[in-house]
Amino acid sequence: MIISIIVAYHKENKLIGFDNKLPWHISDDLKRFKKLTTGHFVVFGRNTFESLPNFNRFISEGIHPLKNRKIIILSNNKQKYLNRNKCLDLYFVDSLDQAITLAKEQGESELFMAGGSKVYQHAIDRANKIYLTEVHSEIVIASSTISVSSNAEEITNKVFFPEYDLSKWKVTSEEIFEGYTFKTLERIF
Ligand SMILES: NC(=O)c1ccc[n+]([C@@H]2O[C@H](COP(=O)([O-])OP(=O)(O)OC[C@H]3O[C@@H](n4cnc5c(N)ncnc54)[C@H](OP(=O)(O)O)[C@@H]3O)[C@@H](O)[C@H]2O)c1
Repeated sequence: MIISIIVAYHKENKLIGFDNKLPWHISDDLKRFKKLTTGHFVVFGRNTFESLPNFNRFISEGIHPLKNRKIIILSNNKQKYLNRNKCLDLYFVDSLDQAITLAKEQGESELFMAGGSKVYQHAIDRANKIYLTEVHSEIVIASSTISVSSNAEEITNKVFFPEYDLSKWKVTSEEIFEGYTFKTLERIF
């Protein structure tokens, strides 16, 4: 089974989120996420799970928050949601090993580690592949435009992708767009 990380981070400082939200809205990035992950297991940390747009409907109506994906949520306090979870294809586990075992047992071919920063920290050494969206423009936060590079300190509750050794990875595809680049990296060591 391939273990893939899927992430959008800022080119200059690897910012991935703030205030438990994405710092930007890049519609093509969301489309890419959907295209790549549809039909697969996707692992989220509890914070990212709670940030999903349909999280409130999961709480109020028990509706699966991400169509056509099997979601595994990592939490050390999984009882919080286990009792109310009536959805098929939604699992709560308390370790990355359990998430990997669960996906393998169900015959998954490619498991996606979809953040946030705590999950990426644990997953980076286990991953074979990274689907990266490298954001390199000014980003829009709420209604104001903020240059991530110059004003990063002003953004509160920031979270970042972990530092990792690029010499262990090879870029196998690259598509450049205005404001962002889609890259695929494969582990070589
Ligand atoms: N740019 C991107 O591509 C991208 C993608 C995803 C998320 N994000 C952003 O990232 C931010 C959230 O990241 P975050 O670091 O705050 O939170 P997170 O990684 O989403 O969730 C952290 C929580 O997940 C659980 N967890 C994580 N690793 C675990 C492990 N190995 N074993 C057991 N439990 C584990 C713990 O839950 P408990 O506290 O319940 O124990 C932990 O407190 C948000 O701003 C979000 O928008 C960005």
